[in-house]
Amino acid sequence: MGQATNLYFTLLYLHLLSICWCQTSNPDSERLSCDRCDRRLSCNCSYGGFTSVPTVTDRALTLDLSFNKIAMVTDDDLKSHRQLKALSLHSNKLAVIHPSAFDSLWSLEELDLSNNQLTALKQKWFRKLGALQNLNLLNNPYRCLGSPAPFQTLVRLRRLRFGGPALEELRREDLYGVTQLEELIVHGNNLSRYEPGTLADAWPLGRVTLSLRSAFLTNTALARAVLEDVSYPETPIILEDLHLIGNESVQSLTAAANRRIRQIGLKNVSVSDEAIVSFLMVFNGVPLTSFWLDGITLTGEGRWAQAKWTDQKSIDEFFLRNIVVLDVWKFVSLLELGFLLHYPRKVSVINGRVFVMPCPTSRLLVNLQYLDLSDNLLTELTLSESLCDGHGTLKDLRVLNISGNALKSLSTISRLVAGLSKLTHLDISRNAYSSMPPACSWPSTLRYLNISRAKLETITHCLPTSLEVLDLSNNDLKSLNLSLPALRELYLSGNKIQSLPPGWLLPNLQILTIQSNTLNMFGRSDLQSYKRLQNLQAGQNKFVCSCEFVAFLQSDIKGGDVQLTDGEESYVCDSPLYLQEEPVGQVHLSVVECHRVLFVSVSCGVALFVAILLCILLWRLHVLWYLKMTWAWLKAKRNSRRRQRCREREGLESLLSFDAFVSYSEQDACWVENFLVPELEEPRDNNEESVNHRPLTLCLHKRDFLPGHWIVDNIMSAMERSRRTVFVLSENFVQSDWCRYELDFSHFWLFDGNAGGEAILILLEPLSKDDIPKRFCKLHKLMSSTTYLEWPQEEEKTGEFWMSLRKALRGEEEDY
Ligand SMILES: *[C@@H]1O[C@H](CO)[C@@H](O)[C@H](O)[C@H]1NC(C)=O
Ligand SMILES: *[C@@H]1O[C@H](CO)[C@@H](O)[C@H](O)[C@H]1NC(C)=O
Ligand SMILES: *[C@@H]1O[C@H](CO)[C@@H](O)[C@H](O)[C@H]1NC(C)=O
Ligand SMILES: *[C@@H]1O[C@H](CO)[C@@H](O)[C@H](O)[C@H]1NC(C)=O
Ligand SMILES: *[C@@H]1O[C@H](CO)[C@@H](O)[C@H](O)[C@H]1NC(C)=O
Ligand SMILES: *[C@@H]1O[C@H](CO)[C@@H](O)[C@H](O)[C@H]1NC(C)=O
Ligand SMILES: *[C@@H]1O[C@H](CO)[C@@H](O)[C@H](O)[C@H]1NC(C)=O
Repeated sequence: MGQATNLYFTLLYLHLLSICWCQTSNPDSERLSCDRCDRRLSCNCSYGGFTSVPTVTDRALTLDLSFNKIAMVTDDDLKSHRQLKALSLHSNKLAVIHPSAFDSLWSLEELDLSNNQLTALKQKWFRKLGALQNLNLLNNPYRCLGSPAPFQTLVRLRRLRFGGPALEELRREDLYGVTQLEELIVHGNNLSRYEPGTLADAWPLGRVTLSLRSAFLTNTALARAVLEDVSYPETPIILEDLHLIGNESVQSLTAAANRRIRQIGLKNVSVSDEAIVSFLMVFNGVPLTSFWLDGITLTGEGRWAQAKWTDQKSIDEFFLRNIVVLDVWKFVSLLELGFLLHYPRKVSVINGRVFVMPCPTSRLLVNLQYLDLSDNLLTELTLSESLCDGHGTLKDLRVLNISGNALKSLSTISRLVAGLSKLTHLDISRNAYSSMPPACSWPSTLRYLNISRAKLETITHCLPTSLEVLDLSNNDLKSLNLSLPALRELYLSGNKIQSLPPGWLLPNLQILTIQSNTLNMFGRSDLQSYKRLQNLQAGQNKFVCSCEFVAFLQSDIKGGDVQLTDGEESYVCDSPLYLQEEPVGQVHLSVVECHRVLFVSVSCGVALFVAILLCILLWRLHVLWYLKMTWAWLKAKRNSRRRQRCREREGLESLLSFDAFVSYSEQDACWVENFLVPELEEPRDNNEESVNHRPLTLCLHKRDFLPGHWIVDNIMSAMERSRRTVFVLSENFVQSDWCRYELDFSHFWLFDGNAGGEAILILLEPLSKDDIPKRFCKLHKLMSSTTYLEWPQEEEKTGEFWMSLRKALRGEEEDY
């Protein structure tokens, strides 16, 4: 027992702790935010699970907070929303609204507080809402509107909806200040006290909807008083949720009849035959023009002939929708109702499970111009009966709507209506037409034809050329290739069409919708083929976002005559894959993608140009020559090393077999052979310096090179085996590659220090450094570092030249 108590206290403690924790971590100031706002600053936060008003951008123009769990609006919640135009708190758990919660909503035009838990209305909520036009307070559990009069500050109010299951009382001052309304809706099914005149100030009054269920059943005085206050000839009155059984319940309507209302509607009502007879009696001679019944349950058998004597001449329109006849098999023929059917020009019997309107009944409808039998059970057979097989009925008919029936044959319908010489509109949509005969006969007056939501796969010349509006949407069409010269509007959405129909077939077309097909793209030329096109809706197609299409949609179309009226956001790319789901308006294609051919050709051009430039550059810089030379040199160098290794292995001294290797150009061979060789190689004894005149051995490539060996090799080994290298410089030398090479190689020796080679330069003709091409940089260097011997032009100075040369060639010997 003691343990149990302990446990209990522990749990209690934990519970308290958790309450504290919850409160500290969720302070009131911490509000959730909702960022579901679109570009038009319309914020849709419905179904967000919010328990308090979330924070939303201050700039919001529309705020939809419906279907949440908001219980309270504090004075802070909407403080910053000066620009808000519409606020919906529909279907929340709203029980408390701070008196100044809406104070800053100066721009608010629409306020929806319906389906909440407000038990009382406060005048203070509305005191600053001078701009409010629409106010919806339906279905809250308040029992009266409260005082002071809640709406008196709403000077602009045009649409007011209030009431709910709990509303019991309406007092004279409740609607004080409400004067001019376009729409008034009062849910007063449980209303039990009404001060006459309460609704009388609201004038002019556009349209009134009242649900006064219990009053009609039990308190006809109250119902009469209310009707008395809102009935004006120009005000349509709709009565909802009634149960009209005996003649008593209908008597309240005399108030409206006495004020000669012209339009009355009953919605969600069940009526007996007796009530209908009473109704017809009440409205005997009243200039009632329209009578609507929407959501009606007929409990009787259609025995209304008792009211045959009444005057219903003024009736122009019968509108019946969603009719349930409880005892359909007992329902009598409408033949007795001539007194009702002679007059109306407009009859709609929609969704009434009508399977036939007998031909005799049709014949009664002599004034009929508009017949709507949509959403019934008509077939070819029963329709033939209803239209008396196309003979002599409904001569005045202009509009026939048999949408949503079970019709299959276009040739039958065309035959049946062919005689209706005034027919302009024919709506045969939502039937089961699956094929079109090659030709049909239609009244020549036909302008409007709706065959949408059928199963057509092709169209033929069955379509009349007189058409101005043609709706073929939601079929299985793959193309449209038919000339319709008068057509102004064409609806083709929901088919399988792959391209816009050719414009020259539709010269008068102004509106074209072709959404949800398989269009890949369209362009300027497509639109230009239409002479008059103004509005185009082509969204939700499988667009291929090519460059032309994207550019066309992003810019070209804006300047044209054609407007895309279905909003940019419905144009979405389907391919290429990486752009799928992307709105066409936001696609950015790069230049590379858009001008591929241009791009490729330009880049090829540039590459070619660069390549040519490079070649020219290489050629100018003699790069190839350098490469060739380097290659040759590397190879020769390897051979030379091998030779050296060979010699080392065999223990041979490096063998100097020549005093000098003479490098010269072929053009200078003459000088070399005639002057240099004889002078140096042949002994001279006429001179006292003959000791010094020991003959020198020269290496000449012509004479001493081993035939069959590679020339670079030869040069290399010649230079290795010579003590000196003599370069015979001349214009010709500079031109010759091999000489260049020899020079380079010798230079290498000189700075390599491997052998005791030394370059001696002989200038055969005056050669300034500037005459030597720049690329011979080594020669340049050599000429500036080594003194050179010049071959004298005068004969007498040659002796001196030879002496200097010999000296230079010998100079080295003394070192040994
Ligand atoms: C907000 O979204 C809901 C569905 O989520 C929709 O029913 C409602 O109409 C939208 N409200 C507005 C103002 O667009
Ligand atoms: C209708 O009014 C009566 C009193 O007149 C009240 O007792 C009853 O609860 C009300 N019905 C509803 C659904 O509020
Ligand atoms: C129709 O009226 C009945 C009462 O007669 C009510 O219970 C029902 O909710 C109403 N239906 C609609 C759709 O208003
Ligand atoms: C209403 O019907 C009763 C019989 O059901 C009849 O006695 C009475 O005269 C009728 N009242 C009117 C105004 O038609
Ligand atoms: C025919 O009835 C359907 C359904 O009631 C409606 O959508 C359509 O607009 C009507 N057509 C004409 C031409 O009134
Ligand atoms: C054609 O009929 C369909 C279905 O009844 C309707 O939605 C559509 O608005 C009609 N088309 C035109 C152009 O009225
Ligand atoms: C369209 O119809 C014309 C004749 O009216 C015909 O010459 C042409 O081939 C047709 N084009 C297509 C794509 O069916």
